[in-house]
Amino acid sequence: QVFRLEDYKPSDYLITHTDLLFRLDPTATLVTAKLSVKRRDGVAANAPVVLDGDGLVLESLSINGMPVSDDRYKATPDSLEISGLPQEASFELEIVTRISPVTNKALMGLYQSSGNYCTQCEAEGFRRITYFLDRPDNLSTFTVRIEAKKSEAPVLLSNGNPVEQGSLDSEWHYAVWHDPFPKPSYLFALVAGDLGSIHDTFTTSSGREVALGIYVEHGKEPLATYAMDALKRSMRWDEERFGCEYDLSVFNIVAVSDFNMGAMENKGLNVFNDKYVLADPETATDADYANIEAIIAHEYFHNWTGNRITCRDWFQLCLKEGLTVYRDHEFSADQRSRPVKRIAEVRNLRALQFPEDQGPLAHPVRPRRYKEINNFYTSTVYEKGSEVVRMIHTILGAEQFRAGMDLYFQRHDGQAVTIEDFIACFQEASGRALTHFALWYHQAGTPRVNVTSSYEADTGDFVLNVEQSVPPTPAESMKKPLHIPLAYGLLGPNGEDMEVGSVEGATVADGVIHLTEGSQTVRFRGIGSRPVLSLNRGFSSPIVLKQDLTKEDRLFLARHDSDLYNRWEAINALCVEALIAASTSGSYDFDPALVQCLVEMASNESLEPAYRALALSLPTEADIAREIGSNVNPDAVLAARSALRLAIGSAARDAFGRIYDAQADRQPFSPDAASAGKRSLRNILLDYLVAADGSPELASRQFEAADNMTDRAAALSVLAHQYPQHEATQKALSAFEERFCDNALVMDKWFIIQATIPGAATLDLVRGLTAHPAFSLTNPNRVRSLVGTFASGNQTGFHRADGAGYRFLADTVIALDKHNPQVAARLSTAFRSWRSMEAGRQEKARKALASINEVPNLSRDVKDIVERTLG
Ligand code: ARG
Ligand code: ZN
Repeated sequence: QVFRLEDYKPSDYLITHTDLLFRLDPTATLVTAKLSVKRRDGVAANAPVVLDGDGLVLESLSINGMPVSDDRYKATPDSLEISGLPQEASFELEIVTRISPVTNKALMGLYQSSGNYCTQCEAEGFRRITYFLDRPDNLSTFTVRIEAKKSEAPVLLSNGNPVEQGSLDSEWHYAVWHDPFPKPSYLFALVAGDLGSIHDTFTTSSGREVALGIYVEHGKEPLATYAMDALKRSMRWDEERFGCEYDLSVFNIVAVSDFNMGAMENKGLNVFNDKYVLADPETATDADYANIEAIIAHEYFHNWTGNRITCRDWFQLCLKEGLTVYRDHEFSADQRSRPVKRIAEVRNLRALQFPEDQGPLAHPVRPRRYKEINNFYTSTVYEKGSEVVRMIHTILGAEQFRAGMDLYFQRHDGQAVTIEDFIACFQEASGRALTHFALWYHQAGTPRVNVTSSYEADTGDFVLNVEQSVPPTPAESMKKPLHIPLAYGLLGPNGEDMEVGSVEGATVADGVIHLTEGSQTVRFRGIGSRPVLSLNRGFSSPIVLKQDLTKEDRLFLARHDSDLYNRWEAINALCVEALIAASTSGSYDFDPALVQCLVEMASNESLEPAYRALALSLPTEADIAREIGSNVNPDAVLAARSALRLAIGSAARDAFGRIYDAQADRQPFSPDAASAGKRSLRNILLDYLVAADGSPELASRQFEAADNMTDRAAALSVLAHQYPQHEATQKALSAFEERFCDNALVMDKWFIIQATIPGAATLDLVRGLTAHPAFSLTNPNRVRSLVGTFASGNQTGFHRADGAGYRFLADTVIALDKHNPQVAARLSTAFRSWRSMEAGRQEKARKALASINEVPNLSRDVKDIVERTLG
């Protein structure tokens, strides 16, 4: 079945209040739902009510207290249709279902994880609990009563505010929660179990006190303090930046260890993958701390962008996700370093969203079709969705952007709305048309922008010829030009931005060129000497930009651009160029000027260490493969990249050694951005130094001496990736395993490091590790760490010439699909760039995909991905 945007139709009935009673039991939980149902105006009284279900068994059904006779309803696992309803517009429906949380390994609906009950309802998990209008435009208030054995579940949580709790008998107790804010069913949550917790309070800007709680496995309470701190900073930031204040008297977060995604924004009760809550210096890296801060913020920010204002239907997913990602990016930029954050965002966008947008799974930020909505929680909806909001900010400026947001909150609070509603707020608040711009939401594919320039010395004109085009994507062959905002500067001979006299050929305002046509000539007048163009500053538009800059121009930008993002872009482009040349020619004589510039950047004390680390981080093998685009040979890419690392490391051995020593932290560990930046610089230098030394010695020493996970894991990774067979590596891997074998989240790092060892031999290692006691096919984090990282983060391993890597992934997808379709489908997206490989590999990848496609009873999730990937 295909769902289409244009088929949207409001339901005949609404459920305005939902009263739930849960009698919790691992295999036989009884769910009693009392629904206040209202027929919409104009709907015929004999219209049936049709509710969604998924694998449900109906126990009993009554209307206004009277049992419904058999001939008036039809119950299947997937739906409940009732006819012969009361003539009155409002009535009460009571539905009893029985479900088995402990056998729910799909981790959607109500399930048990490590003995604790928890729920995941987005997008369509609520229908696995009870029959319901399980669609985001049905807004209902909820009252939830949970009954459970005291011994099994001393903690009973749901959405909203606590109403009452008490004892039922010596064995059972209960709690009642009420959420006064009407919400769709996907935001429902229930958690019950034996959990430890930490507590704090937050006073909102208008002076209301909110009780904050974070619930974790007993003994892990101290690991939640960083998350609590991040939560309080998020709450303050949203008030200051967007005027968004929290609205309930409690806010709870629960960490669970079996979770399909990162986290979930259920109203007043966020549920998190424990990986994004738990941290201490001994077990978490700086990247883990940064992720926790970002995801805590993301889920919290959903309270306004997602919960108070939600989506009319799932086609509008980017309405809440793109906007909320934009908000969490801005939060992290404010808490940490803005340029460093921006560079990380762009690297991530190019690594994940660009291949999606340029491959068989491409879809618009707001899709028009889906077969399985879970397959549209994509980097396009999230990250490109965020870039589109960022462009609105670039086009309107900070003030009018904020005015648009204010209008959105004021006009649509309590509603389920569309992207059109969202855009209308910015148009009205600013008085500017965004009609053309809105195409970014509707047209798939990454725009290419080609720029050639010339300087006309006699007139002092600097002229740009700009062409834009979007390559065809599945089901969209004809593309239209977009409104592309390009922030820019013209660098004069002294490296500073020049004054521009006047501009013709495009709208240019506040340092932004607005492209709107397929082909445009932009003429800058009154330019005294040939400038160097710095274009798409801050990555103002998510495009592939090709320019006619010379090597010297790029080196100049890398040294002088006032836009720190573009300084990084310049050095990165030079590295990409050098690596493509080396991997296609097999000759490794790198330009000394490039090496020199990198060494300068590494030593430049006016740049923060985290920034210098990014400048030194070579494009990954996947980055290079993507830039090559077709007929890729991953072994040649790996060899070229290793050669460049060695060339840089050898040329800069002494300088890098000195900086490495100078960055050593004598202070006790702190996860703050400045300290993390020093560690990241030091650890990237370690990679170069070990390569230059031709010995694992320095990495072994760092591994032994490390007093935190960042330095320890970095050293282990350098050892394993550069010296996989060396005794020092085997020793370090064993020491790490022995020390952390009881900590599943740390063992994930151990799996990741091994799964990403370059070369064909890693497949056997990974296969062997699937039998390790710490591995489990039912835990999504384990599957992602070992198999997911191997497939999407190991070019030479996964794309082994004999196709055995593809075979392994196909087998894992097939096995996993039997109990967890959602994670299996996600895993199978690693095949998406198969057509860019050389012919032999392509054929093997196609066979592996086809073998998945032939499995009987494949889930809708996997079937959808595999069919689209095969094309
Ligand atoms: N809404 C959650 C978040 O972005 C993610 C939910 C993912 N759901 C899914 N079915 N994949 O914060
Ligand atoms: Zn989200």
